[in-house]
Amino acid sequence: MSLLGRNKELDRLLSVIRGPKDTALAVIGGHGVGKSALLSEIPTLSDYKTVFLGASAFESDWPLSGVTALLNAMDDPVLNRIADELLRDTAGSLDVPAISSMLLNGLHQRASSRTVIVIDDADQLDPGSQAVIGFLARRLSGTDIAMFVCLRDEAPDSPFSGLAVLHLQALSYSDTVRMLEAIPARHTTTAAAHAVAAATRGNPLAAVELYARLLERHAEGK
Ligand SMILES: Nc1ncnc2c1ncn2[C@@H]1O[C@H](COP(=O)(O)OP(=O)(O)OP(=O)(O)O)[C@@H](O)[C@H]1O
Ligand SMILES: [Mg+2]
Repeated sequence: MSLLGRNKELDRLLSVIRGPKDTALAVIGGHGVGKSALLSEIPTLSDYKTVFLGASAFESDWPLSGVTALLNAMDDPVLNRIADELLRDTAGSLDVPAISSMLLNGLHQRASSRTVIVIDDADQLDPGSQAVIGFLARRLSGTDIAMFVCLRDEAPDSPFSGLAVLHLQALSYSDTVRMLEAIPARHTTTAAAHAVAAATRGNPLAAVELYARLLERHAEGK
């Protein structure tokens, strides 16, 4: 499905990808507002290597599973050595500050070209990974990395506080209607799309789900 009504937001993402002003951006928005849909456009915005970490890639109750998944996905020789060191540390002697500074050094030593890191649902990572990645995200200048983290809430004590923020707003009424009309269906009515757009006030997830329910009922002759 093509992304509707997010041109300003895509420009903002592109300015972070190109740098040099902001190196990390927190994309914040409520359930279903379209964060994942927006982030999934990032690979199309540049030719840089993009490393994508989605919620299914880590386990939030497994210490440092987020950092480990990120390092695996980056697949960089310098970072792989650090990942091995983390794996060997079964005694848990490496704490969050030690791991953070090791990784920051690693990012500076990395020889690879510009890389874009995208972490969807970053607030669902295990707490240690949130702390490490938040630390790194605030210190990326000079590393040739652009990072996006996606969050549902903006908590003042969040490990990601202090980053530049893009608050994702609801879609406009007309973009919601256009989004619904683009969904392939046997029977659609413009009136139904308008009714759903009004009722769901620009929340794309709510609109898509309600519209699907209406089409189902319609097909049943109700
Ligand atoms: N701008 C848009 N244009 C077209 N479709 C969209 C747009 N934004 C969201 N959608 C669609 O709406 C649905 C919900 O969007 P998405 O999953 O991106 O929300 P989310 O903010 O990531 O939700 P969650 O908080 O649950 O992770 C998806 O089916 C998505 O494809
Ligand atoms: Mg999402």
